[in-house]
Amino acid sequence: MKSELKIKAIENGTVIDHITANKALHILKILGLPDEDVINVTVAMNVSSRETGRKDIVKIENREIDHEELNQIALIAPKATINIIRNYEVIKKDKIILPQVIKSIIKCTNDKCITNYENEPINSKFNVIESQPPVLRCHYCEKLIKNEDIEKQFE
Ligand code: CTP
Ligand code: ZN
Repeated sequence: MKSELKIKAIENGTVIDHITANKALHILKILGLPDEDVINVTVAMNVSSRETGRKDIVKIENREIDHEELNQIALIAPKATINIIRNYEVIKKDKIILPQVIKSIIKCTNDKCITNYENEPINSKFNVIESQPPVLRCHYCEKLIKNEDIEKQFE
């Protein structure tokens, strides 16, 4: 406990805790943060954690990130917890759930897929067919995307 890193508690917003170590920046990328409206995003990386050895933490002040958006990060941080903070209190704590459908955040690995067309590409969409480790199937061309392919896209 003595060696645990303390980052300032926030008054209002979202704390994403128990993120797989060193994946915090990928998560911010998926969430499109920080954007113009959000101020005070704090990131702690590779800190010690009682349960998991090492973890990352992201604190986003004054924004309650919605569930559907957060679930998309399950692909790279399956053990993350979402804490909604109001007036310094944790008013809601949820585990991240891998959704059935993943949209936009990753690319289909099939060059000929309609989602990769140079002119008028459409947003990617995948059905999750296995969760641990994740395997996705492209909704458009049925190409299977394995965990390694997913990880590569966030390197
Ligand atoms: N937190 C924060 N600001 C607050 C309250 C909590 O930044 N005003 C952060 C804590 O530092 C922690 C997370 O939100 O990273 C969850 O807080 P809490 O539920 O109090 O901690 P734990 O009980 O350790 O959470 P868990 O059981 O999920 O590990
Ligand atoms: Zn495809």
